[in-house]
Amino acid sequence: MKKTILITGWTGYIWSHWVVAFEKAGYKTVIVDNLVNSNLETLENIEKILWYKPDFFEVDLRNKEKLREVFEKYDFDWVVHFAGLKAVGESCEKPLDYFDNNIVGSIKLFELMQEFGVKNIIFSSSATVYDSSIYERKNFSWAVETDITWNTTNPYWTTKFILERILKDLANFSGFRVMNLRYFNPIWAHPSWFIWEDPEWIPNNLMPFIFKVANGELDELKVFGGDYDTVDWTWMRDYIDVVDLIDWHLKAYEKINKPHPNPLLKGEGIKEVWFFKTYNLWVGRARSVLEMIKATEKVVWKKIPYKIVDRRPGDLASVYCNPKKAKKELAWEAKISLEESLKNSWKFYNK
Ligand code: NAD
Ligand code: WQD
Repeated sequence: MKKTILITGWTGYIWSHWVVAFEKAGYKTVIVDNLVNSNLETLENIEKILWYKPDFFEVDLRNKEKLREVFEKYDFDWVVHFAGLKAVGESCEKPLDYFDNNIVGSIKLFELMQEFGVKNIIFSSSATVYDSSIYERKNFSWAVETDITWNTTNPYWTTKFILERILKDLANFSGFRVMNLRYFNPIWAHPSWFIWEDPEWIPNNLMPFIFKVANGELDELKVFGGDYDTVDWTWMRDYIDVVDLIDWHLKAYEKINKPHPNPLLKGEGIKEVWFFKTYNLWVGRARSVLEMIKATEKVVWKKIPYKIVDRRPGDLASVYCNPKKAKKELAWEAKISLEESLKNSWKFYNK
């Protein structure tokens, strides 16, 4: 009997890749999404890869009654929770929208999980929970899972921090089994080039911009800031291939059922054994904006015109995390080379 997974926010960029990986791994996926930042074209594209359409329900997580109807239809083994608004800048303009969408929506989901006895969850958290003071304090070495701080500086970060804490309590007091995964810059496209990150409007992230300049859709790349204390004065990031990232999620699921001692909480009513694990999922190599431009030029065989402009408001400082714990405990690491990732993406943007 196939294990059935409820995936929230699947039509989004990363999670459309997830559906393909998990269906191919033998799981049945059921997807809910309100299409606030995606469209049904993704479903058509996934069908081109899988030769069938997974079950999809257009549901806003905050509509508990409609979401309950989905829970009533299936016997879910676990939930992969990706639905959420994710833009740091936008969250600063609309804090309450982010709190309502990401926190209230997630709580409705958790309530139904509890009601229907579905206790396994993989949560898509973010390295946004590591603030730049960590890097300064550690002389810009790589953040590890315990480096989280509560002093959030943008509403998006606040939602991730709060949801991690809620899930930790549900693991302690309500029997939830939680795999809490933090990453930051998933990029590229599926080798089939049927699914990719291609927001319908002008892209926000670096790589869609670079490729749209390479294919002539945009004239030049604006490099936000050229005065940072890095190898070439532009921001560093650890970019991970989205297919690698999703494969790592598969590994994480296999571990979700392994109990382990509760290292953080002792005391009345706290179970000694619990199921709450956090992992940084990263390549472990930071690259600057200019390095990414040069690497892309080698693949597309053309110069990428760019202009260094002012820093982007709200831009995080160099962000990179140490993936050592995940590599060791999940026995996995990123495999896809930068060149292969760039070639996969260029196949799409150069269509
Ligand atoms: P995305 O916007 O492409 O996908 C999110 C999906 O969730 C969209 O399809 C959207 O329509 C849906 N959604 C949003 N609110 C909803 C609601 N209330 N009810 C139902 N569906 C809803 O974003 P993504 O890049 O695929 O990211 C997915 C998850 O991964 C998010 O939780 C994000 O915070 C997290 N994440 C993303 C990145 C990144 O750089 N892309 C990095 C770290 C973590
Ligand atoms: C990468 C680097 C820019 C575009 C975002 C979200 C964050 C997280 C990951 C969810 C930065 C520079 C970019 C451009 C540029 N999502 N850049 N010119 O900012 O690392 O993080 O995605 O957790 O919440 O904010 O990603 O791809 O936008 O930028 O110079 O046109 O490229 O300044 O240094 P970022 P990004």
